[in-house]
Amino acid sequence: MTMRKLKSDIRKLLVERNAILLAHNYQRDEIQEIADLTGDSLGLSIEASKTEAKVIVFCGVHFMAESASILSPDKTVIFPRMDAGCPMADMITRDGLVKMKEEYPGLPVVTYVNSAADVKAESDICCTSANAVSVVKSLKDAKRVIMTPDRNLSHFIAWDGFCPTHERLVPEDILKLKERRPDALFVAHPECRPEVVDLADKVASTSGIYVFCKESKAREFIIGTEMGILWRLKKDNPEKKFYLASKKLICPNMKLTTLEDVLVSLEKMENVVKVPEDIRIPAKAALDRMLAVPRD
Ligand code: 13P
Ligand code: SF4
Repeated sequence: MTMRKLKSDIRKLLVERNAILLAHNYQRDEIQEIADLTGDSLGLSIEASKTEAKVIVFCGVHFMAESASILSPDKTVIFPRMDAGCPMADMITRDGLVKMKEEYPGLPVVTYVNSAADVKAESDICCTSANAVSVVKSLKDAKRVIMTPDRNLSHFIAWDGFCPTHERLVPEDILKLKERRPDALFVAHPECRPEVVDLADKVASTSGIYVFCKESKAREFIIGTEMGILWRLKKDNPEKKFYLASKKLICPNMKLTTLEDVLVSLEKMENVVKVPEDIRIPAKAALDRMLAVPRD
């Protein structure tokens, strides 16, 4: 089947099923092209929960589909590739976190949204890459906090997890590129190593990177996050130049989902992700606490 036919068949089925197609910023270009919404993981789930759609098709990694299920328990969440996990989210398990809580009794647990639902359910509050500092500041009575799973997002008691994709970016990559592109601003995702983050002109989540590049007066940018984001950056800013900070910035898991996978899962209404209520309710409480924190 041609790509054009695949795309039109998917769009037709989406209407028939009263479904909405969500694509994370790191998805393949052709998936982002036909999505109803493209964005960061939590933003997509929040936006989808406000729609009338009965079905959410989430193209991303597994914890993102779980977040959609947590926020939209009455909608059916379809996740076209059940094998698309996030290695960083998989670095922490619920049991591991329970053990850590026993080692540090009474410390609040702040968990990055890149985590499984049952890990969120064991946490006091969630955070995103954009609001981690405000969330920690909001815990006024706590002198120390436990942060999971990303050690790079945290300078507190950190779970030793990391994103293998962002970890591949090293300072030499930036320094080399900066020599060739001296006018370019370097924009990094906070999942990068601290020594890479130190070189950045701006550190932001994927949506933050998008907004920064769109609003900035600069005309050239070195992008320190997964290459999928380049599609929307280039499409919406044709007069600006974007250079990927390293060819190694590809998340294989984010690239698993193909148009064929989306079509098959929608036809068969299979690969449903449903977070059970005993996990969903405490996980949602941790997300709600985060959403109640005022932005800096
Ligand atoms: P964002 O929440 O910034 O989109 O990041 C998701 C992710 O997987 C980063 O690697
Ligand atoms: Fe997980 Fe990193 Fe891939 Fe994001 S880029 S989905 S954090 S492995």
